[in-house]
Amino acid sequence: MQRSAHTLYVGFLLGIALITTIAGGLYGTDYYLTGMTDRPFHPQYDELKPTGVVGHGYGIVGSLMIIAGVAMYSTRKRMRLLSGVGKLPLFLEFHIFLCLTGPILVLYHTTFKFGGLVAVSFWSMTAIVLSGIVGRYLYVQIPRGIQGHELNAAELARE
Ligand code: HEM
Repeated sequence: MQRSAHTLYVGFLLGIALITTIAGGLYGTDYYLTGMTDRPFHPQYDELKPTGVVGHGYGIVGSLMIIAGVAMYSTRKRMRLLSGVGKLPLFLEFHIFLCLTGPILVLYHTTFKFGGLVAVSFWSMTAIVLSGIVGRYLYVQIPRGIQGHELNAAELARE
């Protein structure tokens, strides 16, 4: 992919991630800032509560994005049959997009209420996202070929 096309691709993904985060945040700001005991009386309660049409939708779409983000990257990376389908770094960028935006939607699904047993899965997801960010930092330190695979010692020497 050419440099300008790549910038466009990353910009597009970043744009969607930002729009989703900002739009979801703005739409629910008033509800999320309302105290727990007053929420049932809030006009947006029925739609934004975790089981409401919008709140539940956030959870479902966010989870599907995470599942798709992991499945697509892992399958492309491991299946020889797919080695000709796009470049691995582009799949990784798509993985990062889906696995960053998905958890943000899941966060809106929780309505910022972190208690009980379900909170364990939320904080586990947060830990995975943070480890992904650290992993991304380490990933770029490893020398790779044009297809995104790690170079071995012989390839490095040749380079
Ligand atoms: C819920 C969120 C996430 C989940 C469940 C997740 C899951 C995974 C999994 C299972 C892999 C291994 C793929 C494989 O080798 O088959 C992986 C790789 C990776 N992920 Fe994520 N990830 C998440 C979020 C993120 C985020 C937010 C980033 C970066 C900002 C990230 C960056 C990476 C990197 C750099 C790799 C290593 C790629 C490689 O060595 O080929 N991940 N992730």
